[in-house]
Amino acid sequence: DLDGVTQFMEKLEQKKERKDVRIVVMVGAGISVSAGVPDFRSMTTGIYQNKMDKYSLPTPQHMFDIDYFISDQGPFYDFVKTELYPKSSTLPTVFHHFMNLLQEKKMLSRIYTQNIDMLERLAGIPQEIICEVHGTLSTSSCANCKKQCDGFTTMRRIRKGEKPTCEKCGGPQKPDIVFFGEKMPRKVQEQMKLDMPDLKKCDLLIVAGTSLAVQPFASFIDAVPRSTPRIFINRDSDGSGRNGEYDDPGGQHLWGKCGNYRDVLLRGDCDKVVTNICRDLGWLAELQSKIKT
Ligand code: OAD
Ligand code: ZN
Repeated sequence: DLDGVTQFMEKLEQKKERKDVRIVVMVGAGISVSAGVPDFRSMTTGIYQNKMDKYSLPTPQHMFDIDYFISDQGPFYDFVKTELYPKSSTLPTVFHHFMNLLQEKKMLSRIYTQNIDMLERLAGIPQEIICEVHGTLSTSSCANCKKQCDGFTTMRRIRKGEKPTCEKCGGPQKPDIVFFGEKMPRKVQEQMKLDMPDLKKCDLLIVAGTSLAVQPFASFIDAVPRSTPRIFINRDSDGSGRNGEYDDPGGQHLWGKCGNYRDVLLRGDCDKVVTNICRDLGWLAELQSKIKT
């Protein structure tokens, strides 16, 4: 399977001489695990199973529920203070550098990330390629009147133990990460209305480090042409949306099903998988030079 993937990518690299190559990468929390950022749904290490007990929430997901937040900011502010990444020492992973390498080779048209750790930016990937589907910590808004302010200031204040409020109406400040019950950022909604043009024209889709448990993100994999190969890189999950007891059903795919002609499951650690791909493509030195710097 890995052989097939690298052969296909080799062809894309050759094709690049003649025309555009458009790879789209869709990622989730799993790509930042090796940076020390825990994911959500891994058994024992995921935050839903591991970090929510002390809050006595109705369900772990209530930590990121907008109605719950409006009624009580305490648990989320405590979570920001004690658990939420990025911390200043958090560095991009091998997988982040791999995405940056694809971008430098002009083969990457878009990254759809569910992550809010901003490690894509830190890896040097240009902001215009990154679509932060679940929002960002870089800005913050009043949960009441929506007036926006600087997210880093809000984070700093929460981490100092303050309860940052809106200067206009006194409502609670919430970092602009997407909570359950909230809409996607406007930029993402506009893309969705336009039928996700980069997915529609994509030559290869790489899905990594996500359980595909959350919609609408999970359904983006269905927007690529029927002939486009889809590679799914994951340590534990097969992308059925079931990584543990907390999941909702995820997207449709053909990994491991009969009639499959284009979906490839590469099971394993995402850093290792892309290191192997780079080795086979002769890109290893380039990848390693990024990791060192
Ligand atoms: P999940 O925790 O649901 O899934 C992470 C996936 O990465 C799991 O399937 C892991 O098995 C896998 N994984 C972990 N470490 C890995 C590694 N080193 N290599 C390869 N795979 C690895 O996280 P997401 O899919 O990102 O949303 O979760 C989606 C959304 O659910 C989040 O954005 C967040 C959460 O609720 C909101 O809060 C709105
Ligand atoms: Zn306000």
